[in-house]
Amino acid sequence: MCGIFLAVSSQHGLQDPQKDTTNNFENLCRKLRNANSARGEWPDACDEHNISIMNKDGSSGVRIHFFASELQLRGEAPVIQPHRREGKVLCWNGEIFDGLQCLSGPLEQNDGAVLFEALSRTTNAEEVSAVFGGIEGPYAFTFYDVFSGHLYFGRDPLGRRSLLIHKPTNSCPYLLLSSVSAGADPLYSFEELDTSYIYSLDINRLSEQQSRLDTKYAECLYSHSRICGTVVGSSFFACPPLVNINLPPTEFPSVQSLDSIPSYLELPVNSFLEHLDRSVMLQVHNIPPVKKHQARLAVLFSGGIDSTIIAYLAHRHVPLDEPIDLLNVAFENPRKVQLQKEGNIGALPKRQKKIRAHILETSPDRMIQADELRRLCPQRVWNFVEVNVPFEETQATRELIEDLMNPGKTVMDLSLALALYFASKGIGRVKSPTDILPRHYTSAAKVLLNGLGSDELLGGYGRHRTAFQTGGWTAVINELQLEIDRIPTRNLGRDDRVISSHGKEARHPFLSLSVVDFLASLPVHYKLDPRLELGVGDKLLLRLLCQKLGLKEASGRKKRAMQFGSHSARMEGERRGDAII
Ligand SMILES: *[C@@H]1O[C@H](CO)[C@@H](O)[C@H](O)[C@H]1NC(C)=O
Repeated sequence: MCGIFLAVSSQHGLQDPQKDTTNNFENLCRKLRNANSARGEWPDACDEHNISIMNKDGSSGVRIHFFASELQLRGEAPVIQPHRREGKVLCWNGEIFDGLQCLSGPLEQNDGAVLFEALSRTTNAEEVSAVFGGIEGPYAFTFYDVFSGHLYFGRDPLGRRSLLIHKPTNSCPYLLLSSVSAGADPLYSFEELDTSYIYSLDINRLSEQQSRLDTKYAECLYSHSRICGTVVGSSFFACPPLVNINLPPTEFPSVQSLDSIPSYLELPVNSFLEHLDRSVMLQVHNIPPVKKHQARLAVLFSGGIDSTIIAYLAHRHVPLDEPIDLLNVAFENPRKVQLQKEGNIGALPKRQKKIRAHILETSPDRMIQADELRRLCPQRVWNFVEVNVPFEETQATRELIEDLMNPGKTVMDLSLALALYFASKGIGRVKSPTDILPRHYTSAAKVLLNGLGSDELLGGYGRHRTAFQTGGWTAVINELQLEIDRIPTRNLGRDDRVISSHGKEARHPFLSLSVVDFLASLPVHYKLDPRLELGVGDKLLLRLLCQKLGLKEASGRKKRAMQFGSHSARMEGERRGDAII
C-alpha cells in the first residue's frame, strides 16, 4: 500500500510572472506529496525523482516529477520507490495476488520490483497492456519509458485502487496523477481515472514545440485496449467478464430449504468454495507480522453473511495461534437519539433520559455472527471490536473525511466514507467471552478484508427481484451484467483513499477477477432465485455454501447495507443519497 503522485509540466505553461504560477505549482506539488505520504504512521520509505526532457534546440521542454511512498505490506525487505533504472521509472501502488509472474514464486519478493522487471522488457504499448492483463490484484501505476518516450498510466480493471487525474486546463496547465487529493483546491480539478484503458502520453511529442500542455495534451494521449491479441495468456485479468446469458430451463426444481443442496447445485457450490477460498488464501498470505500476539488481519465485519464467510475462510489460512480482529462500527445518530428521547417523554426522570439518549443503539445482532464463528472455530481468538462513534467525534472528523473522499462529494459518499473511516481505524472495545467488562482495544492489523461484491455478483439487491418481476430472467441477467460493468466506477477508489489514510489497506476476496469470472460464467438460476423469499432466494449460491460450511445463522441473514447497519446514513436528515454535501 503506497501513495503515488506524478506531475507533468512545461516551463512554457508555467512562465506567467503575472500569476506567479510557478510558485503556485510548487506549493501544489508539496501539498500533494504530503497527502500521499501522510498515510497512517510515517510510511516505511518515500522518495522522488525528476526528469527534464530537452528539446533538439537545447530549450527545456517537459518536466516530469515522480513521487512515491511505500508502506510494506508483503515480502521481506523494504523497497524504495519510485523504481528506476536506465531511464525507466515506475511508481506502483498495488498488490499482485495472482498471475503469470506469481506462478513461478516471486511472491516472496517485492511485487513492485518484479513488475518493474517485466515492464522493463517491454518495447511498446501492446506489450505493456499484456503485462497488466496477466496480473491480478488492485493497482494504480505510472510508468515512464525513456526509449519510447511514453508515459503509461492506469488502474486495475475493477478500479480497486485509487488514482485521480487532473487534466491540463488553460488556468492549470499541468497533468497531475495522484492516489489521493489534498482536498478541494482551485488549482486542480480531480476525477477518478477511467479503468477501461491503459493510457499513454507521448512525452517527446508533447515536448517538441514550445507549446502549452493544455493545448497539446489531447493529441498526445493514447488509449490502449487492455486486451492484447498477440501475447498468449496475457488477457486473463484484462477486463471484467460478460455474464452467462443462458436462460434457465422452463422447469427446474426450486430449492425448498437451505438445509439440503439440490444435486444440480452441488458442483457449483463446491467450485464456488474453491474459487473464493483460493482468493482469500492469496490475499491473507505473506502479511508482515505486527506486534507480538496482535492480529495481522482484520475483517470489516458488519455481521452479515458476506463478512462472516470471508472471516471464516480467512480462519482456514491464518495460523491458529494468531487472533483475527472483527471490526464493527456503530454511530450515535442524533436523529435516532431524538426519536428515542421523544418516545420516552415522561417515562424516565430527566437525568436518566439524558444518559439514555447518549447510549448508542447497539443492535443485538451485531454480535450473533461473531458468536457463530466462535462456536465453529473455538481454537481461534476472535476479537469482536466494537467501534462506537460519538456524534461529536463524527462532526470533528468530517472535514478530514471530506478531503479524503474528494472528488466524491455526495451525501451517500459521506455516510459510506464515515463508516469505513472509523471501522478501519479500529479503535474500540473488545469483550471476550471470559471478560466481565469490555476492555479498550486498538487493532494493529494493516490488512482488512472487505466482503463487498457478493450482492453485485450473486444478485443480493432488491433491484434484482424487481427486475424479475418486471422482465423475468432476461431482465435479471441484464441487471447482473450492469452490476459488473459498474464495479469499476462504484467508489472502490474512494474507499481506498479513506482506508489508506490509516496506513491500512482493504482487500476484496469477492472481487478478485478469478472469482468475478467464475460467478459471471454460471447460469443465472444457480446464483439466485427471485421466486423464493428474502433471506433464501437472494444470493442463493452463497447461502447454500454457508450452510455447507456450518455457518447456519449466517446463511439466513438478510441484507443490511453497512451505512444503515451502522447508522452513519441519514445523519444529515432526509436528504437524498446523491445530493451534494
Ligand atoms: C522535483 O520537481 C518538483 C516539482 O517541480 C519539485 O517540487 C522538487 O523540489 C524537485 N526535486 C528535486 C530534487 O529537484
